Amino acid sequence: MHLDIPDIKQEVSTGSLPSRGRVDELVTAAYTRYRNHTAGAVADYIPALADADPNLFGVCVVESAGATHAVGDTDTLFSIQSISKAFVYALVCEAFGHEAVHKRVGVNNTGLPFNSVMAIELNHGHPMNPMVNAGALATTALTPGCTFDEKWEGIRATLSDFAGRELVVDDEVYRSESETNMRNKALARLLQSYGRIDIDPLGVVDIYTRQCSLLVTARDLAVMGATLADAGVNPLTGERVVSARVCRDTLAVLASTGMYEGSGDWLFEIGLPAKSGVSGGIVAVAPGKGAVATFSPPLDSAGNSERGQRVIARLSRALGLNLFASSVQVATR
Ligand code: DON
Repeated sequence: MHLDIPDIKQEVSTGSLPSRGRVDELVTAAYTRYRNHTAGAVADYIPALADADPNLFGVCVVESAGATHAVGDTDTLFSIQSISKAFVYALVCEAFGHEAVHKRVGVNNTGLPFNSVMAIELNHGHPMNPMVNAGALATTALTPGCTFDEKWEGIRATLSDFAGRELVVDDEVYRSESETNMRNKALARLLQSYGRIDIDPLGVVDIYTRQCSLLVTARDLAVMGATLADAGVNPLTGERVVSARVCRDTLAVLASTGMYEGSGDWLFEIGLPAKSGVSGGIVAVAPGKGAVATFSPPLDSAGNSERGQRVIARLSRALGLNLFASSVQVATR
């Protein structure tokens, strides 16, 4: 990952965001700086994604207190893809608790690509990382419900609660991925062979594919992230979606695994839990403050949006979001 991070001052995490007007200015400046940036390639391994317009670009910040700052294509719909993994993970933690999910799925980065079979074999069948496909399939298998219809309805309803509006599936993306997802079917069968999935693996792949096909906007992603930043309460609807404990667990997992094999570099440069998806979305969460979401389809080789990473790197610095940044406090002795 080479972000070419601009030479701007690293503001210190203060516990609060700058004034609304200043956040507006900084979001607009970040958008403007990268509007004409062209690096990266649109994902084409799912045929329906290959037609995405590489010029689409939106940046949205939603504060935990609810204020929204949106510039560019923030109301364009796209399939949520891997970003769904973060919110289904929260759903399963809410239903079954920290220990059960930790034991079944794990919380560590495999350091291998998001669709790796080798990662399962190297870890004796343990999926390890809930934010890559194998761990996400094991997580989706755990969702509450006696039938796949019940499980699916729980996923759709919970992700809708995070977004604060009813989310629907993009049927074209769902069909296109269903026809080409042999690798995910193989991963699910392999997990079944290791006892990590104990229901019909192809049924699990089906609802996983539907969850990845849910349509969102950058604005939705920012609201979903801001709900994790706001201890589980959606800042727009005021509804509690998950507990504060679940937010903490989910954000810890995102910090170590959310940007695939680039997660260490990401934490080093940006200092925020985040999740990306192959359709070009990224959401980064600043606990207690809010979330930054971007949409720009061209990706780097790990599957992370090129422009999105740069914009969030800039905003993490300018808004003082990096969790690890501090300044000397004068002792009052
Ligand atoms: O399972 C897949 O391959 C896609 N539905 C999601 C992959 C994804 O978003 C990985 N992203 N960077």
